[in-house]
Amino acid sequence: MSEACAASWSGALVPAMVRVSQTGAMSADDVVVLPMTAEDWPQVSVIYAAGIETGNATFESAPPSWVDFDRTRLPDHRFVAVHASGTVLGWVACARVSERPVYAGVVEHSVYVHPDAQGRGVGGLLLTELIASTEKGGVWTIQSSLFEENVISQRLHERHGFRVVGSRRRIGRSVAGPHAGRWRSTILIERRSQTAGVD
Ligand SMILES: CC(C)(COP(=O)(O)OP(=O)(O)OC[C@H]1O[C@@H](n2cnc3c(N)ncnc32)[C@H](O)[C@@H]1OP(=O)(O)O)[C@@H](O)C(=O)NCCC(=O)NCCS
Repeated sequence: MSEACAASWSGALVPAMVRVSQTGAMSADDVVVLPMTAEDWPQVSVIYAAGIETGNATFESAPPSWVDFDRTRLPDHRFVAVHASGTVLGWVACARVSERPVYAGVVEHSVYVHPDAQGRGVGGLLLTELIASTEKGGVWTIQSSLFEENVISQRLHERHGFRVVGSRRRIGRSVAGPHAGRWRSTILIERRSQTAGVD
């Protein structure tokens, strides 16, 4: 994977569309989406680790180092959702799927929300920014693989214009977490832009 995509951040401080929780713990104006920086990494890494622990987010068994993350994820298309208190609530990032020029506009993404902030629209906020940013940068396809058990992520992506390409039967075996040792099936999803790569 390289960082050849020469896009720039879409620039908007995304107005929070976050739904107010039943406890009223988060108001609709409390969250902004910002470019991810090295300073965010400690909190991003904790959120990444929490997702890994569920066993339904990724085959990875531990978050990478910041150096590896920074090297492999496109710098113009990685974001954090930040509460007014400064707490990072979630993150999204993507990487090119291939070095081949023909696939220059195809990326694979990940989106993770802190367990305490899930179910309030933060994931949707992050995906919205990723889609805007990548489309502005000429990316025409965003793809990802989701575990078939991860119905919340499937729902989130369906809501944001992703379609199911197909399912992969027992494509890999989990090495850690609650499903360690089990062969897992995934669902390949993609979102084809209607504004980028249409000439
Ligand atoms: C998947 C994930 C990113 C979703 O983020 P989120 O901020 O909780 O999602 P949203 O609040 O935007 O909700 C997305 C949809 O799922 C639904 N949803 C959210 N939490 C839910 C829950 N616990 N039970 C049922 N549905 C739920 C929402 O109602 C919403 O659907 P709707 O638009 O029809 O109302 C988050 O759950 C997460 O980080 N999980 C762990 C890491 C992971 O699995 N990442 C995805 C793999 S890359």
